[in-house]
Amino acid sequence: MQTINRLTHLRSSIAALRQSVGSVALVPTMGALHSGHMALVKAAKAKADAVVVSIFVNPTQFAAGEDLDVYPRPLEADKAMLTGAGVDLLWAPTPSEVYPPGFASRVQVDGPSSGYCGAARPGHFDGVALVVAKLFNQVGADYAFFGEKDFQQLAVIRRMAADLDFNLTIIGVPIVRDADGLALSSRNAYLSAQHRRAAVALPTALHKAAEHVRAGGPIAAILEQAKADILIAGFDKVDYFSLVDAASLQPLDTLENRPARLLAAAKIGATRLIDNVAV
Ligand code: PAF
Repeated sequence: MQTINRLTHLRSSIAALRQSVGSVALVPTMGALHSGHMALVKAAKAKADAVVVSIFVNPTQFAAGEDLDVYPRPLEADKAMLTGAGVDLLWAPTPSEVYPPGFASRVQVDGPSSGYCGAARPGHFDGVALVVAKLFNQVGADYAFFGEKDFQQLAVIRRMAADLDFNLTIIGVPIVRDADGLALSSRNAYLSAQHRRAAVALPTALHKAAEHVRAGGPIAAILEQAKADILIAGFDKVDYFSLVDAASLQPLDTLENRPARLLAAAKIGATRLIDNVAV
């Protein structure tokens, strides 16, 4: 696997890759790779002839006071995982390569960025949209793979790619969970043993609420009960627990036979966890 840090080198390597293979897939990540990321790589390898993974802890998607400085950066371990998985190229730029002096542009996606994590983390999705748009332009892939765990992020990226005419296919990959059901996340590493045990209350509440919604129960009461269950289990705050239309992310108060999703975010200690399930 080649590791590239400079955009000029990336461009020549991608051009060479393009000459020797057919299609190229991009898997954007912030590193601290786990089995969830490796599921993206596996799906990318199954779809395309060559796989490019990016590792970049994107400063523009972190608000002041968030975990940018302490976000885990185990680059050598990440490289070993990617090499073992048969990834062709690792794009690991520095912040100044992505945002050189004088950088002044923004990408703002209305609609799916509103509410939920967009409300709890103002500016977060602008930063995600900006860096993903840059990664799409830099790599020029045919496919890009994102985890469904960040369901709102996936909706924002789909909207942005359609609105800005990016000529690539976005593919969402199902959530990978630990044996007890907790969705894998690089931020799970922040949890103390006690918080890690309690954290399973989030997926448990989502699955239970999904069952009750499918059974035709009263939606507002189901959502309230789920929030209460999460707090009783030891979480400190529930940012949101909502039933939404799976495409528009508009809140639903009835199911009405359309694809729906339960989305949740909650804070335990200093760690904010997000999760979702299909209904
Ligand atoms: O999901 C992530 O890891 C990041 O938000 C992404 C898409 C790589 C953009 O920095």
